[in-house]
Amino acid sequence: MKRACVIGWPIEHSRSPIIHGYWLREYGIDGTYTKEAVRPEEVAAFLRSLSSRGFVGCNVTVPHKEMAYAIAEEAEESARVVQAANTLWLEGDRLYAANTDTYGFMTNLSHTVPDWRAHDGPACVLGAGGAARAIVYGFLDAGIDEVRLFNRTRARAAAIAEQFGPRVKVFDWTNRSEGAREACVLVNTTAAGLKGAGTLCMDFTGFNQDCVVCDIVYVPLETELLAQARAHGLRTVDGLGMLLYQAVPGFEKWFGVRPQVTDKLRATLVADIEERSC
Ligand code: ATR
Repeated sequence: MKRACVIGWPIEHSRSPIIHGYWLREYGIDGTYTKEAVRPEEVAAFLRSLSSRGFVGCNVTVPHKEMAYAIAEEAEESARVVQAANTLWLEGDRLYAANTDTYGFMTNLSHTVPDWRAHDGPACVLGAGGAARAIVYGFLDAGIDEVRLFNRTRARAAAIAEQFGPRVKVFDWTNRSEGAREACVLVNTTAAGLKGAGTLCMDFTGFNQDCVVCDIVYVPLETELLAQARAHGLRTVDGLGMLLYQAVPGFEKWFGVRPQVTDKLRATLVADIEERSC
């Protein structure tokens, strides 16, 4: 039997076991996927003993993603770019790392809005943490000409621009509404919008009507940002799809089947979000 898990601290909130448990049943695979609460000071030892603990790999969530990247012996470009990993697997006795947030975000965007094109205007990203870095990388890789970054702390946005070069431009946080008007896509990667974490106060007046507005927050499923965008007639993409698609590569590495993200799986997660609401 193959065993995988998700590690974090805390870990109780994680919905990854619902996703992987669903696929294990769906594909009739003899495997398990569990939650493991691992304290920050125990992460290195835990990951170095994955194999002796009986695991073929794991997901990594907050606050261990940077440490996981540092511990892994081999890293895919997706993890090197962000300097953080959310998916680990063993090949022989070597630990490999990837960051599947870029894949998760871009795949969900293209599935949800099939006619979205990277060439129709700048992409605008709110925030400058690890998730922002993964998404900026995704847009640049998709061939977008310009990514505009808006962050409360400008220096963090400047560090991302420095990493990726002249296609990434830093804008003032206070100008996020005016600066994003011509965007073909706007993504919130900040914690603002999370249940109880304040709002972003975007004004969508005068926005390009083809702009797709995305939030990586998925509790609530419809954030205030998405509700406001919808009220202005803009298409929206919620954060749940990214969560579902980012899980695909890990499941395939551990269990040998590339799983499908289906409406039924999504409905299972939506029901859990409505029930737990956190
Ligand atoms: P992650 O790695 O998950 O993307 P992070 O590194 O903690 O998370 O980054 C969180 C992002 O949310 C940052 O861009 C942060 O802005 P600062 O760099 O100024 O801290 C942003 N953020 C958090 N709370 C916010 C709020 N209330 N308003 C605006 N931005 C916020």
